[in-house]
Amino acid sequence: MKNIVVLVSGGGTNLQALIDAEKCGGIKNGKITRVISSRADAYALERAKNADISTVVLTRKEFPDSVSYSRAMLEELKKANADLVVLAGFMIILDECLTREYTNKIINIHPALIPSFCGEGFYGLKVHEAALKYGVKISGATVHFVNEKADAGPIILQGAVDVANDDTPETLQRKIMENVEWKLLPKAVSLFCEDRITIRDGKAYIDL
Ligand code: GAR
Repeated sequence: MKNIVVLVSGGGTNLQALIDAEKCGGIKNGKITRVISSRADAYALERAKNADISTVVLTRKEFPDSVSYSRAMLEELKKANADLVVLAGFMIILDECLTREYTNKIINIHPALIPSFCGEGFYGLKVHEAALKYGVKISGATVHFVNEKADAGPIILQGAVDVANDDTPETLQRKIMENVEWKLLPKAVSLFCEDRITIRDGKAYIDL
C-alpha cells in the first residue's frame, strides 16, 4: 500500500475527489495519510479533518526563501514516509532541492491543456482568464509529474471541455473541475499506486 501525501492551498475540491475515490475503492493500492497546507485558513484542512486524515500547516512566510521552504517541506514528506506526493491546488512552486528527491513521484493537476496557459503566474482563476482572453474553443486540465520547471514534467492524463461564448473564468473553472479534474486526478493517482505508469524518454506511458 502506497502512502499518499496531498499538498493543498485552498478550497480542496480536488482533495475531496481523492478522499471520495479512496472511500469507494477508486484508488487501488494507495491511502491518503497526510494533508499539508500552505495556508492555515484553507478549507481543504476541514475536508481532511472530516476524513480523519492528519494535517500539517507549513506557510511560505515562515521561511526567508523558496529553498528553505522546500527543505522544510521535504522534511515533512520524509516524516510522513510519502511514496507519492499530490499537488491538489497547491499554489507554491517547489524548489528542485525537493523535486529532485521525488523525481516522478510528485503529481500535479493544472487547470489547462499543457503546454498552453501554464508556467509561473498561471494558477487558479488566472489560467481561465487567460484562456478566455485568448479565445480558445477548448480548454481542460492536465495531470503531470513535477520536475524542476513549473508545469513541465511528463504528462500522465489530459481531458478537454468546450468553451462557450458566455463562459466566465468562474463557469469555465467549474466546468473543468467537474468534468475533468475531479475524475482524472484520482485516476492518475490510482494508476501510480498500481505501478502502471512508466517513464521513457521524458514521456509517461500508461500500462494497459
Ligand atoms: C484547481 O482548479 C487546480 O487545478 C488549480 O487550482 C484549483 C484548486 O482547487 N491548480 C493550479 O492552478 C496549480 N497551478 P481546489 O483547491 O478546489 O482543488
